[in-house]
Amino acid sequence: MSHLSFDFNNLNNLIPENSACIQSCHEMLERGSGSGSDFLGWMQPAVNLAEIEKLAKSLRDQCEVFIVIGIGGSYIGAQAGLTFLKSSFPNQLGKDGGPDIYFAGQNISSDYHSDLMDLISGRDVCVNVISKSGTTTEPAIAFRFFKELIENKYGADGAKNRIVVTTDISKGALNQLVAEQGYRKFVIPDDIGGRFSVLSPVGLLPMAVAGIDIEKVIAGALKGKELYSRPSVEENDAYRYAGLRHLLYQKGMTTEILATFQPAFRHFSEWWKQLAGESEGKDGKGIFPASVEFTTDLHSMGQWIQEGRRTIFETFLLLENSNRQLKIPASQNDADGLNYLAGKTLDHVNNKAYEGAALAHKEGGVPNLSITINDRSPEALGQLFYFFQRAVAMTGYLNEVNPFDQPGVEFYKNNMFKLLNKPGY
Ligand code: PA5
Repeated sequence: MSHLSFDFNNLNNLIPENSACIQSCHEMLERGSGSGSDFLGWMQPAVNLAEIEKLAKSLRDQCEVFIVIGIGGSYIGAQAGLTFLKSSFPNQLGKDGGPDIYFAGQNISSDYHSDLMDLISGRDVCVNVISKSGTTTEPAIAFRFFKELIENKYGADGAKNRIVVTTDISKGALNQLVAEQGYRKFVIPDDIGGRFSVLSPVGLLPMAVAGIDIEKVIAGALKGKELYSRPSVEENDAYRYAGLRHLLYQKGMTTEILATFQPAFRHFSEWWKQLAGESEGKDGKGIFPASVEFTTDLHSMGQWIQEGRRTIFETFLLLENSNRQLKIPASQNDADGLNYLAGKTLDHVNNKAYEGAALAHKEGGVPNLSITINDRSPEALGQLFYFFQRAVAMTGYLNEVNPFDQPGVEFYKNNMFKLLNKPGY
């Protein structure tokens, strides 16, 4: 069963004209003949789940706090999964007995890391440091702090059971630490790049530690693989979405806004922005990926979307069924005038807000598409991850860029290293 449906009725009958290009790009993906084809491992999600599940169980039993250290593709997929599948206030409830999960090394903020160290002080801590290259500055700095904290508390021997490394098979500084200190390690396959790695140990270990059924996440991804590997655009919604967004881009809609109506999608939007932005924005080309969370942002960015520069299109990411339904209560004197909604669910009102916004934006000159997922299940999440990975790879090829490299991110690093007097710069 598919967990996802795609609708493009609000595009004013704009029909994909590029199905021939989609065919040839599909061949490039399937045959591995396009640029960046050394990084197509994500197309076949295949992981030793038993090993991840076993370690996750012992970490859940052992730790009160689990710190995930990583940046970019090395943390945002896990955070997307947690926010999508767990409670809106996961660390405040501790309902299912698992550790509280925090992220570090995704910035170089002194206050953020100081606050986090204060917060976890006196609690039992485990760390998963994730870096494919093993040399990225931000997580390397954060790892120094947390490694020291753990060693001071549990000794170097105790740290062995509390530090897990996820990195390349052999390259990078983290491998040297694994060899020296005997930390447990998961491998990020050579053919999977950072932002395409959520369905590898990078995303799956933190999700499993959070109590998420990763077998179901992978089952959903495999459903995605079945549906979105189909060559024909008529039978493949990921390709249809890719074809339409490429067409909109060619018509001057250079910004895509991913609009959601659920805080559960908050970090999923961040994951999508990285996936699309880092994959497509190069050679002076690419759709700029932005995101908004409605109805909150209808009271801020809504004005711009309705009446600002007409260079945007909107992709609504919708949830069909909330986990739980809240009905609006009746009030005896109806002082707030809301009795016309008494007995209606919040999902009903939220859905009308979507319909109202989609129509208003369309009439205001913003074409829109919608992707709806059935529920907040791990299967739906896995399928959604796969959908966007396939669609972004396709859009990159349609726009004739290599979707799997990121040469531009080196520029800030080189400047920063020079300014920091790093040896060799
Ligand atoms: O998509 C990418 O390759 C990047 O966003 C990386 O994930 C990010 O730069 C972190 O790299 P690393 O895992 O090597 O620390």
